[in-house]
Amino acid sequence: MQASRWTFRPTSVRAIVDGVKLVVTSDLHVDPKGRLTTRARIDALARAIADESPSLVVLAGDLGHSLRGWELCLDAFRAMPCPVAALAGNHDVWRDRAENLGSDALFTTVLPERCARVGIRWLEGHTMRFGSVAVVGSMAWYDYSAVDPTVTVSAAQLEELKRAFNNDARCIDWPHRDTDVAQRLGDALVAQLEELERDDEIAQVAVVTHVPLVEEQMERRPHDPTWGLCNAYFGNLTLGHRVTAFGKVRAIVSGHTHAGRRANRGPIDIRVVGSDYGAPAYEVLDLREAR
Ligand SMILES: [Fe+2]
Repeated sequence: MQASRWTFRPTSVRAIVDGVKLVVTSDLHVDPKGRLTTRARIDALARAIADESPSLVVLAGDLGHSLRGWELCLDAFRAMPCPVAALAGNHDVWRDRAENLGSDALFTTVLPERCARVGIRWLEGHTMRFGSVAVVGSMAWYDYSAVDPTVTVSAAQLEELKRAFNNDARCIDWPHRDTDVAQRLGDALVAQLEELERDDEIAQVAVVTHVPLVEEQMERRPHDPTWGLCNAYFGNLTLGHRVTAFGKVRAIVSGHTHAGRRANRGPIDIRVVGSDYGAPAYEVLDLREAR
């Protein structure tokens, strides 16, 4: 189990009066049949996270396989001694044959409702505030902008090629184009950030997404053209440009790629949670509250 910590410096000379400890985990892939990540493994992860004494835990998507897996994952975190918030990942909106639920219903209704049942906050569209620190999040969605620059295929071709390289193409049944989902979720997240930028009580914002947003989060494998093409489905650099334009953003933490990464861009700490199947990981952020 991996964990890391990093500390935010205040953006002004205001005195640090308190700290907000944010834990982000993702890509837990709880499988009711125990083939990927077992409930026992997630229970152990939850105990380790609880031992960190966090102020907030964010579950950043790809939590379970099938709705039952999603529920098992939430259940493992319902007794956490702090607020818990959850985002969907692309796997979480795969249509559920057992429950006869489509992707649209899962994302807009069922997953949020299952969160509410166990007292977990559906983070999509919601801002969590801890004094001068705010935490926002989105599943976000890939828009092909993160494809390797050396891959010379058009967006239309990437849309077509997805079926050959990414199971989302056959397992997600909503009628929306990827670029439209990316735009819609991105616009909503940006609207939240605009509001926080105008809010004098907020000094720092942490952004949590399932899909990575910035180049520092991308894994480039120059000698693997297939990987380079699949990066089209691994990130949304368009949204990253928009998010990093906000002066209060101090952290961007994502999942999805299973490739843990850490970087800094100016004052922004950038992370990807390095979970893998059967090997969940988490990141710990000490966000200093300034007044
Ligand atoms: Fe994912």
